[in-house]
Amino acid sequence: MPKLPPGPINFLACVGFTYRHFIQLRTNPIEFSTRLAKRYGDISFFRIFTKRVILINHPDLIREVLVRQSENFPKFDRITNHLRKATGSGLLVTEGEQWREQRIKIQKVFRSNQVDVYGDLTSRYTLAMIDRWKAQKSIRVEEEMTTLLQAIMGKGFFGVELNPGHAIAKAVRIYSDIFHYESRSLISPPDWFPSKMKKEKRESIAILRNSLDKIVSQRLQSGERKEDLLDLLLHSDCPHSGSHPTNLSREAITLEAVNQLLTMYVAGFHTTSVALAWLFYCVARHPKIQDELSRQISNESEWGEGHSIFSSGATYVDQVIKETLRLYPAAWELFARHSVEATELGGFRIPAGTLTLICPIVTHRDPKFFSQPDEFDPHRFAPEMEEKISPFSYFPFGMGGHQCIGNSLALMQLKMVLVHVLRHYEISLKDSTKEVQMVAGVSARPKGDIEIILKARKKKGEIVKMGNQNC
Ligand code: HEM
Repeated sequence: MPKLPPGPINFLACVGFTYRHFIQLRTNPIEFSTRLAKRYGDISFFRIFTKRVILINHPDLIREVLVRQSENFPKFDRITNHLRKATGSGLLVTEGEQWREQRIKIQKVFRSNQVDVYGDLTSRYTLAMIDRWKAQKSIRVEEEMTTLLQAIMGKGFFGVELNPGHAIAKAVRIYSDIFHYESRSLISPPDWFPSKMKKEKRESIAILRNSLDKIVSQRLQSGERKEDLLDLLLHSDCPHSGSHPTNLSREAITLEAVNQLLTMYVAGFHTTSVALAWLFYCVARHPKIQDELSRQISNESEWGEGHSIFSSGATYVDQVIKETLRLYPAAWELFARHSVEATELGGFRIPAGTLTLICPIVTHRDPKFFSQPDEFDPHRFAPEMEEKISPFSYFPFGMGGHQCIGNSLALMQLKMVLVHVLRHYEISLKDSTKEVQMVAGVSARPKGDIEIILKARKKKGEIVKMGNQNC
């Protein structure tokens, strides 16, 4: 019979007392997972109390879990159950037939004109932000990107102007932090438990669900059509969707729309704003790369405005974005999977019920797959180089059936915001000597916000002209 994968010994395992690795995984998961992969290779094994856990760090094994044996490795329901409290049965938490039906419907929605509409919205709000920056010498980049993304997503998803003080925006922030904390805890008291955190959790979920319920109900009642995701969810004519009032009650339609809107917002907002913050950090840190970027994007007639920026061919801008997502993958770990039945991976025995961890941050920074992995080098993604990157060793948006459904939207936003900002400003770091560390939360965000100095580029007249749009 094959052996269990190698891993650190825990002398107390025989008495079921293996808390040591749990504490390490909880306090510094990136450091702990990186160390494990370095020491034990493609697959490592450890225990959290009685639970068996494996960490996978090889493209072939990642493909095995996410594609070939994906049905045997669904998302771990203890984690999805936490999320379900806020998002209901949205796409992030479903599996099997229910997931397949939702995926087909939402994919169709995202393939429609949503990218164009969303692209123009991104352009408009970014230019308004740039206009606001005219009065500033520097910005806190994560704060700015959070505000920007909130505004774009509120409008693009459900037609509401969101600013950081808006109840929905605040509730998402509070809920995300609590979700991250609870999903990594060993035991979580029931939600009625009289603690400050549980109270905040109950309140934030109630705000989110009630606000979205009201927005969807009003839209259904008024019959108003808007260019947003909600409109597409309510009016897509996918045969699987059942979204037409003919076979579903109004309550069921509202519930489905609320679930999917909250899912998209929770899944897309933090990841994209954090990815943007890292993108500006990387560009500001590498003046030569910034010069090359600005040379490329200065030719406006080639690039155009609005969403057409996104469709400009494969360029250095794309390479810089891909390299940022390699070195700083906002989704630093995938949802933990859980083996339903005993199986084999890489010649090792994987018992049923094994918690399975896959971390882009570990694989993306492994010298086996990327030479000098800690260096920021967009050249890795030049077309002739990119084809040499082994499949399943670069997966900032996941892989297999559950791969990110919003990846095109996110890439478009990263590209557009970067292009607009660099057309107007040269950026540099306030403290260029300090390497900013990652904090593993619900996304991998910078430790402390990054302050970026803005220096207006020469074509100042254009800033004024373009910034006059009213959002
Ligand atoms: C830079 C930004 C983003 C990153 C890095 C990112 C990353 C990811 C990753 C790694 C997964 C796979 C999770 C897993 O398999 O365990 C995923 C799934 C998902 N993402 Fe994203 N995402 C981003 C933006 C977005 C946006 C903008 C949206 C929505 C508009 C979105 C919606 C989703 C959904 C719904 C899923 C679940 C898909 C499924 O299970 O079928 N994401 N994302």
